Amino acid sequence: MQDTLAIIKPDAVARDLAGEILAAVQAAGLRIVGLKMLRLSKAQAQGFYAVHAERPFFDSLTDYMASGPVVCVALRGEDAVARYRALMGATNPEQAEPGTLRHKYGQSLEANAVHGSDGPDTAAVELAFFFNKLEIVE
Ligand code: TYD
Repeated sequence: MQDTLAIIKPDAVARDLAGEILAAVQAAGLRIVGLKMLRLSKAQAQGFYAVHAERPFFDSLTDYMASGPVVCVALRGEDAVARYRALMGATNPEQAEPGTLRHKYGQSLEANAVHGSDGPDTAAVELAFFFNKLEIVE
């Protein structure tokens, strides 16, 4: 069993797609073990994406991530990191496979609807950013 962090990003939450995306995640066999809605400050968005601090898109990305509420989801399943990444599709919705969340719901490279941790180590760090132990159900 493996845990991963999914985020339904501001563009998707604003378009009332959170329920549909959660249903698709569950239909793919991933179990929701933590769930919350919140709005990141600019500083919190910068903290979450600190790994991209030197990238040219960092300022715009963190403005966007702080632009409205997000839904944070702790997911559990066998090989959950890779399975959820496959369900999300490529970073750029234009390159994402039909049927993937980003192909269906993404609007642009930046407003690409969903986030997913890129590895088990990253997942542990990202889950701890949003959830304490009491907020992850067994
Ligand atoms: P990245 O970690 O490369 O992609 P992923 O979310 O698929 O793991 O990038 C983080 C986010 O930054 C990405 O979801 C969208 C945004 N982004 C841009 O806005 N412009 C870019 O050129 C890239 C590569 C990413």
